[in-house]
Formats: sequence, C-alpha cells, structure tokens
Amino acid sequence: MPPNQVYPVVWDRDRVLLIDQTRLPGEYALVDIHRCDDMARAIKTMIVRGAPAIGVAAAYGIYLGAREIEATNREQFLARLEKVAEQLRATRPTAVNLFWAIEQMLKTARQTLGSVEYLKEALLLAAKQIQEDDLETCRSIGDHGLAALPSTPEKLRLLTHCNAGALATAGYGTALGVVRSAWAANRLERVYADETRPRLQGAKLTAWECAQEGIPVTVITDNMAAHCMQRGMIDAVVVGADRIAANGDAANKIGTYSVALIAKAHNIPFFVAAPVSTIDFQISDGSQIPIEERDPVEIYQIGETIICPPGIEYYNPAFDVTPAELITAIVTEFGAFAPNQIQARLHQRVV
Ligand code: MRU
Repeated sequence: MPPNQVYPVVWDRDRVLLIDQTRLPGEYALVDIHRCDDMARAIKTMIVRGAPAIGVAAAYGIYLGAREIEATNREQFLARLEKVAEQLRATRPTAVNLFWAIEQMLKTARQTLGSVEYLKEALLLAAKQIQEDDLETCRSIGDHGLAALPSTPEKLRLLTHCNAGALATAGYGTALGVVRSAWAANRLERVYADETRPRLQGAKLTAWECAQEGIPVTVITDNMAAHCMQRGMIDAVVVGADRIAANGDAANKIGTYSVALIAKAHNIPFFVAAPVSTIDFQISDGSQIPIEERDPVEIYQIGETIICPPGIEYYNPAFDVTPAELITAIVTEFGAFAPNQIQARLHQRVV
C-alpha cells in the first residue's frame, strides 16, 4: 500500500529504500539499497529518477560507498571516496543536481576533521540534510509558483510535462509542487499531464501522484497539447528542469521545448520550477548542456510489443533545451525571476 505522502528515497536504519518508479503505477514496490553499486544501478535504470531525487539518491550513494571503504588513513579514505563519486557521476549526465549533491558530499568529507569513522558519520548526516533541504525548498517553490501564476481565471487549468513531482524530488515536487500549492489554495481546476514518450513519466507517475491526492488530472498524449491550447483549455504551463544555464536556457524532459513553442504561439505563460541547485552558472547557455541519449529500446518497444520494423535507425535524446526567451519565469525557492535576471539575482545563492 502506498503511503499518503510520497517519498521516493528513504533512509531506513542502515539502508536506503527507493520506490521502484519503473513499476508504477501497476505496482508499489520498495527496493533495498545497501551498496553504492546498487545505488548507481538504480539511478542509471531509473528506479529513482527526476533531477532533485537523483541528487538525494547520489548523496546517500556517497555515504554507502564511504561505508565500504576500509582505509583508516584520512588521505587514503578521501582518495577512495573520489572513486565512489566517479562511479555515481557516470550514471546520468544531464541533471546537474546529481553533480551538485556529490560535490556537497565531497566538500563535507574534505572539511570535516577527525577520524575516518567520524567522517563517515558526517557523510550520513550531510545526505540527510540534502534530503531535508530539498523538501523545504520544494514547498517554497510551490508557494512562489502559486504567487506567480496568472490571477485569472480563479480556477486554473495547468499543463505539465514529464514528472516533476514528489517522486522526482525529496517529496512535494517542483512543477507539481506548484500544482499542489494551487490545489491547496483552491486555485486549481485541473492539471493536464502530457504522457511524455518514450518513458511515459506523465501518464505513469504524474497521473499516479495526482490520483493519490485526489488532484483532478487529465492525461493527454504529447501531440494533443497544441490542440488543447488552441481550444482555450490551458491557462499556464509549469514544468521542472534538469539543468538551467546562466542565461536561463533550461533543459528538461524531451518534448518540453515543443510545449514551450506552442505555449508562446498561444500566448500562454510558461513557467520552469526548479531549485537553485538546478542552475549551472558555470555554463553560459543551453548549447553546453550535455544531453543524455538512452537505449533505442525505449522507442521501439512498448511493454512486450516491438512497434517498429527491423533494420531501422533510432535517435533517443532524453532531454531538450528550452531557450530562455520562451520562458515567462523561473520559479525557485527564492522567488520567481525572469530568465535574464537569474545571473544577477541568484548566483550568490548557490552554495
Ligand atoms: O529522465 P527523468 O525521468 O529523470 O527526467 C525527469 C525530468 O525531466 C523532470 O522534469 C526534471 O528532472 C525535473 S524533476 C523535479
């Protein structure tokens, strides 16, 4: 039985429990993670997915890896911890939260004085802190997003793409955090969830999360969004992000860019909701964001059925980049900002 509150990553006594997101909505199952190898595999295979959630998972992965290191000498321990970090960094390339969380953990290790055993304890506390902070951050994003939404109509119809919900974060969600806050404030009529081919995060995960809480949700296939906008069925779009460049260009799940283009064509506001840890101020624009390419099987096979003829070539980018000029505002835990303001307003907030 799924709990009322959804937490995709949970520290339980001596291990991590992950909700197996590859099995939802058919089955609610938890996976026990005791070792860093298992955590790396879980991130790669998308048992846990969504930018902030993989950041939290990787933070625990660092601790699990640290726990296995036998060195008692601090320098040797730190050198081996770097290898653990390398393994986790190699799992998924696009979401910067993964790299951010790993760096936070390494910083903790470098800055903590004391025995190796003491360092290990500090790493577990740091992972728990990253998780707690993310939950708090998502609630703030929800509040700021609610304030940034159009003031009319009273009850909004919001469109979202992929899953940027509790399952994709420590809990509550970024884009779905805004939806949740709008629902709690009685400002939501309905959320439209793009199904999000090829992995179907919208149909499987966003719809499941909304159903859990009784939030009215309508699933549409990705190619129906333009029609819905043309018919006046959508008041605003809210999506998450995996990495935002300093100029405000935002990488998110493949298909987000087309949603932004059609929203612009219909004069519908388009919001990107993300914590500042998703902003990569080291890169100036979205062309430098690494885009993950995944196995073509995600395109040619649905369930047990092969849907394409043999001998075909495939291209399966998992993310695309929405140019800053298509984004009305980037909603963070510190407020909503026009994309061209983030450098000036948020750079100093990045830790
Ligand atoms: O490939 P996924 O499922 O990890 O991609 C997830 C997304 O693109 C989300 O929209 C993004 O990570 C924001 S999650 C708060």
